Amino acid sequence: MSTLAPARLASLLGDWRAQGPAYRDLADAVRVLIIDGRIPDGTRLPSERSLAEELDVSRTTTTRAYEELRERDLATAVQGSGTRVTVPFRESAASAMIAFDEPDGTISLAHAAGAAPAGLRSAFERALERMPGTFATTGYLPDGHGSLRERIAEHHSRQGLPTDPEQIIVTSGAQGALSIVAATVVRRGRPAIVEACAFPHGLEAFEAEGARPLPLPTGPTPWQVEDLRSAAASAEVALLNPDFHNPTGALMPADDREQIAAAMRREGTLMIVDETMRELNLDGIEMPPPLASFAPDAITVGSLSKVAWGGLRVGWIRAPHHLVNALVQTRVRMDLGSSAFEQLVAAEVMEGAIPAERRADLRVQRDVFVRALRRELPDFAFGVPAGGLNLWVELPGPLSSRLTTAALERRLRLLPGPRFFTGRSPAGERFIRLPFAQPVDVLERAVERLAAAWRAVDGGVATGAIAAGQPTGLDLIA
Ligand SMILES: Cc1ncc(COP(=O)(O)O)c(C=O)c1O
Repeated sequence: MSTLAPARLASLLGDWRAQGPAYRDLADAVRVLIIDGRIPDGTRLPSERSLAEELDVSRTTTTRAYEELRERDLATAVQGSGTRVTVPFRESAASAMIAFDEPDGTISLAHAAGAAPAGLRSAFERALERMPGTFATTGYLPDGHGSLRERIAEHHSRQGLPTDPEQIIVTSGAQGALSIVAATVVRRGRPAIVEACAFPHGLEAFEAEGARPLPLPTGPTPWQVEDLRSAAASAEVALLNPDFHNPTGALMPADDREQIAAAMRREGTLMIVDETMRELNLDGIEMPPPLASFAPDAITVGSLSKVAWGGLRVGWIRAPHHLVNALVQTRVRMDLGSSAFEQLVAAEVMEGAIPAERRADLRVQRDVFVRALRRELPDFAFGVPAGGLNLWVELPGPLSSRLTTAALERRLRLLPGPRFFTGRSPAGERFIRLPFAQPVDVLERAVERLAAAWRAVDGGVATGAIAAGQPTGLDLIA
């Protein structure tokens, strides 16, 4: 069991004071850290006395704050060994977060993922008609269904990355792909270049294999060429998300791609390119060539989760020929293949109109959301990305966790910015990710609640006092 030092908790807490009673503000702030995983389950909190000294508050404040956490089932007192964090199962259970319309009317903007598009049902029906051919086989497809691998290879070739179907391995979403890749290429203890601000589960897949993250400093984009050049010298692998990056929406310019790929080649650093968002080019801009087109040895990861539906669980790896066998071997250790039926559905999706319809809907949603935010929250600073699913908003102060708490009181679920930073750095407190993956009427209501929450935080009247047991579902991020 690890123990949290008072100074470390103080730095995680940042500016925790709102306008409520100090003990309650403190309990609320610790609660946000617990439910989004910045304080892991089982961690021993600092003693009440040492925390009081560190935060320069009275001992009564910390004692009552801990009491409040215990009452909310977020901590337990352990005889002789202080107070331990407990994350109630219902708060951490992934199932709590998948609905957009939660039972009490809470709107969730915690995930960059939409409901299934209307046309998906008929893709399932068409796939069912094609199943008999597959019924006559064992159904085990460790590298994927031939017809889907062909579609995916054509997709990459059309984008400017010539690919044959033997280079494709179908996986359980992009996350399954990242796990297989990490388990194949990461060497324990070796540095891996990652974006300092990134989709967290990708990084987690690499850390799970023992990679030592080497975060790139974030500038105007998550990838400054100079930083990448110098990092390449000391890393064997680099995980990059250059196309409508999650969460920032940034798109890596073509020139940077060329220079970065050249630097990686020179140093022998293997690039893993996560293209999960690439198909969400909402404005139909001219896309820079795929990053892997500048680096023949790079591995690319793709998915239908964003352009179709996360519930399909279809993603893939596109690998250079010499790595395919090793990747398939790793995959077979983890599972024996993806569902044959979902793969046929995926092939139907790739041939049909769903991706274009999805882009059209998202464009409208983004524009409505942007207008509502500019009207109601003029202090929020953000650019409008040409694609992806998110607005990445800079707040006027380091208040992301406080805003998350105040929003949840108003039945709006958000993810605090630090969740997207390596080490859950407090640098993330200045940011909030706002996905526009839901229908416009929901987004309009979400902005009203967000504006009310912001007024409470900004005007210093956030009360905290979130009901115990309210599911947070903050540990699955899309
Ligand atoms: C950049 C990125 N990579 C991977 C994933 C995982 O996607 P999938 O649902 O295909 O596993 C996501 C999901 O949000 C993502 O944003």
